[in-house]
Amino acid sequence: MSLDVAAIRQDFPILQRTVRDGKDLVYLDTGATSQKPRQVLDAERRFVETSNAAVHRGAHQLAEEATLAYEEARRTVAGFIGAPAKELVFTRNATEALNLVSYTFLNATLKRQQDQPLPDGADRFVLREGDNVVITQMEHHANLVPWQELSAKTGVELRWLGLTDEGRLDLSNLADLVDARTRVVSFVHQSNILGTINPVNLIAQRAREVGALVVLDACQSVPHMPLSVSELDVDLLAFSGHKMLGPTGVGGLWGRSEILASMPPFITGGSMIELVTMEKSTFAPPPQRFEAGVPVMSQAVGLAAAVDYLCDLGMTKIHDHEQLLTGRALTGLEEIPGLRIIGPCDLVDRGSAVSFAVEGIHPHDLGQVLDDRGVAVRVGHHCAWPTCRRFDVPATTRATFALYNDESDVDALIDGVRSAQKFFGVS
Ligand code: ALA
Repeated sequence: MSLDVAAIRQDFPILQRTVRDGKDLVYLDTGATSQKPRQVLDAERRFVETSNAAVHRGAHQLAEEATLAYEEARRTVAGFIGAPAKELVFTRNATEALNLVSYTFLNATLKRQQDQPLPDGADRFVLREGDNVVITQMEHHANLVPWQELSAKTGVELRWLGLTDEGRLDLSNLADLVDARTRVVSFVHQSNILGTINPVNLIAQRAREVGALVVLDACQSVPHMPLSVSELDVDLLAFSGHKMLGPTGVGGLWGRSEILASMPPFITGGSMIELVTMEKSTFAPPPQRFEAGVPVMSQAVGLAAAVDYLCDLGMTKIHDHEQLLTGRALTGLEEIPGLRIIGPCDLVDRGSAVSFAVEGIHPHDLGQVLDDRGVAVRVGHHCAWPTCRRFDVPATTRATFALYNDESDVDALIDGVRSAQKFFGVS
C-alpha cells in the first residue's frame, strides 16, 4: 500500500495554514528543513513538562527520568541507522558533526606535535606534510568549509572529485586523487542541490586501498531512504534532525566504536571528562566524550519521536512515494521550454531534490512568483556555491519532495513555473 498523504498531512499543524492571502501552502523546501508532525512536538513538550532535568547529573527523580529518556532516544535514533547506541553521538546538527571530525584531525595533529597524550589509535588522525584530504565538487558548505579551514591551519592539501555535465561524480581520476597520502575521503551521500546519490561503497573501496578514513554526509539521505551503517563501508556518518521531521538543534555523528574511541575531544567541558585537576583532565569514553555540557535533551527525545513516526510509515514506502513525485516533477519540468534541470534527469541514483534554471528568469524572481501562489521552494546557491559555478548558474530554483507532498504539489510547481514564464514574457 502506498502512503496515505491526506492522513499524514493531518499530523502536521503547519500544513493546515494558508499563506499569501489564503493560498494553500505547498511546502517544497524540505531539503532546507522539514516540517514537524504533532507526535514530535508532543514528545518534546511532554519531556519538558514532565521530566526536564540535566541528564547524567543529579540523584533526583527528574534527573533519573531525563537520563533514561535521553539514552532511550539514543537507542532509537541509533537503531534507525542500524547502529548500537554507544556509536551515536548527539550533536547540534550535521554541520557540527562534520566540524567535530575535521577538528579531530586538527587537534590530533597539534597534540602530537606537542607530545601531548592521545587516545590509542589516534595516529590515523595525525596529519603530516604531504598528506591530502579528498572531498567532491557537490558538497554543501558544511562538508567543504571545515576541510578548507583544516587545510589553512595544517597545510594539508584539499582535493576534490569533479562533476560530469549530468550532475554525477566524475570518478575517472578517483585512483589518482585518492592516493597513498590521502587521510580522509569525505563526501555527500545525496546531493542537496543536484539530488544525485553517490556510489558510497565504490568510493570507500578506493579509500580502503590506501588506508584513508571514509566520512559520509548523510543529512539528505537518512530522511528519505532505508539506510543502515552496516551496509555502508564508512567510518563516520553525519546527519541532522531537523531535516527528518525532528526538532532543530539536534543531529548525529555515527562512528565505528574503534574510530570514536581513537578520537580526541572536540568541545570540552562538563560531562565529557573522567578526572579533572587544576592542571589537566582525562576524558570519558565515547559517546560522552563528544557531548560536553548539558546536551540537547528535549530535542533528542523529539528526534526519537520523529524516527518512530518515519518507521511507522516505513522508509521503503517513503522512498517509493518520493520517487514517484520526483519522476512526475522531472517529466513535467522537462517539458517546459527554456527550463534546464541541474542534476540527473532520470530516477537512477537520485533523490527528491530537483534543481532547475529557467532561461530569462532569475531564480529569485521565479521564487517570488511561486511564493505568490503559495509554493515554497528554495532559491539561491543552496549552500553549495561551487556546485552552481560548475554548472555556470548563479543560483537555481530547488524543489524537494517529502512524505507529506502529493501529486497536486508537483503540479502546482509546474503550473507556477509556466505562469512565471508568461508573467516575464519568456514562454
Ligand atoms: N543544506 C540545506 C539546504 O540544502 C540548508 O537547503
